[in-house]
Amino acid sequence: MTTLFDVELPHVNVLGSTMAYREAGNPDAAVALFLHGNPTSSYIWRKIIPLVAPVAHCIAPDLIGFGQSGKPDIEYRFADHVRYLDAFLANVGISSAFVMAQDWGTALAFHLADRRPEFMRGLAFMEFIWPMPTWDDFHPDARETFQKFRTPGVGEQMILEDNAFVEKILPGATMRKLTDQEMSVYRAPFPTAESRRPTWRFPNELPIAGQPADVYSTLETAHRALAQSSYPKLLFTATPGALVSPSVTKRFAKNIKDCKIVDLGAGIHYFQEDHPELIGATVKEWLIGLGADSSSAKQTLTP
Ligand code: BEZ
Repeated sequence: MTTLFDVELPHVNVLGSTMAYREAGNPDAAVALFLHGNPTSSYIWRKIIPLVAPVAHCIAPDLIGFGQSGKPDIEYRFADHVRYLDAFLANVGISSAFVMAQDWGTALAFHLADRRPEFMRGLAFMEFIWPMPTWDDFHPDARETFQKFRTPGVGEQMILEDNAFVEKILPGATMRKLTDQEMSVYRAPFPTAESRRPTWRFPNELPIAGQPADVYSTLETAHRALAQSSYPKLLFTATPGALVSPSVTKRFAKNIKDCKIVDLGAGIHYFQEDHPELIGATVKEWLIGLGADSSSAKQTLTP
């Protein structure tokens, strides 16, 4: 069955609401968990999942408030996403996975790995969230816009009323022009001002200059754990990047163990839309190298 230009996804009940997910591959294989960011959904992984599915059991949830998932009346803070993702994983029976993540998906992944090291079999990530000590660490071309997003009254007008994250940030941080069909899939979850609240909250949660204090400290701790971690890591970079510039990548790479870096060439923030073939093929080979294709998930999905 299809919705407008996308397939209708299965749902599971999660904390009184529902979460949708994309699934592909052999259910007996090791799980590859795909975590998206703002304002996208599992749809952003649509061209990558088929390339990885021959070697893994791919599961890509739509975060709560995004894609085809429910929109309960919650604040959509980072801690809310942590709760809903934890409950989703418990409900579908995933206790360990290779994780692929971008944007806020990386913050969820780092925090998950910090809390549950046994969960993380490997992490492939890009355009990751990191605690930025000052606003000077934020990309100069986007700094003023994101400062406005965090200005009371102004941010709500731009994101809730004008849908700026979908209409401006998403196409503005993708190298190619998204097609009308692709844009309509990305627009579909956000038809009204209130439905866009999850896309407003995320830029207000970015850990910058110590604020918000709880997210900043959670991400500082998670990054310390990431630097110490021994699970295999695969970092995709591109130029100029948005959250992660080439100079941040260099600094980051010096402090992290067992991290292979793959340069995709040109990219801003939504690398999955610009380089799906290279990302998919690289992740597939990385998983094969880690023995994922011959390891069993030792679990079943029980929605
Ligand atoms: C973000 O989602 O945090 C983001 C998106 C595009 C550019 C910079 C940041």
